[in-house]
Amino acid sequence: MLELTTQRCVLRPLTLSDAGALFDIFSDPDVMRYWDSSPWQTIEEANDYIQASKPSLDEPEKLVLGIYEQPGQQLLGKCMLFNIDQYSRRAELGFGIAKAHWGRGIVNEVGFALIQFAFQEMQLNRIEAEIDPDNTGSAKVLTRLGFSQEGYLPERWIVDGRMSDSAIYGLLASQWSQSGR
Ligand SMILES: CC(C)(COP(=O)(O)OP(=O)(O)OC[C@H]1O[C@@H](n2cnc3c(N)ncnc32)[C@H](O)[C@@H]1OP(=O)(O)O)[C@@H](O)C(=O)NCCC(=O)NCCS
Repeated sequence: MLELTTQRCVLRPLTLSDAGALFDIFSDPDVMRYWDSSPWQTIEEANDYIQASKPSLDEPEKLVLGIYEQPGQQLLGKCMLFNIDQYSRRAELGFGIAKAHWGRGIVNEVGFALIQFAFQEMQLNRIEAEIDPDNTGSAKVLTRLGFSQEGYLPERWIVDGRMSDSAIYGLLASQWSQSGR
């Protein structure tokens, strides 16, 4: 089983026993404010998400990992690589953690480990991230991880009747290695 370890956390695939904790995080409207879907309404959505996120050889286009804080293994959130394109060796990066843990540098720490894995082990060449330009926390994390803003797509999403723009960020393997990380 894939497991990545950072200073404070371990990243590994979610299991059905995480459904309650995952639901608590992603049913919070503040956590979902800039997401591309509504806050979860029922625990079934957490169960379905976990089932669909199981690592599968038939479906290598995504890698979803729970973020567990050591030593108690509390689930803080999740991070993922999705839309993995094996031919062009690129993927999109996503992340979300519980409000109680914002501002602790957690996503910066685990994002670093996931990106390192993506470039070194998965041999990806490019990682992209799409965020709401108002999501200043995400923009700061991405910039700190070495991403640059590459594009801006107005009115790209309509979620619950609310229209929002997208800022597109990118990071190349060559930029990552040149930065000496
Ligand atoms: C955005 C998010 C991923 C940032 O992760 P984090 O682990 O809190 O990030 P950090 O602790 O490294 O903080 C990075 C910076 O963003 C700021 N920040 C973190 N969360 C913030 C928030 N919700 N609003 C405004 N600023 C925020 C931090 O204060 C810090 O600022 P600084 O660099 O000036 O000190 C996290 O807040 C989150 O999960 N939000 C909800 C889900 C979400 O929006 N995911 C991204 C969808 S693309």
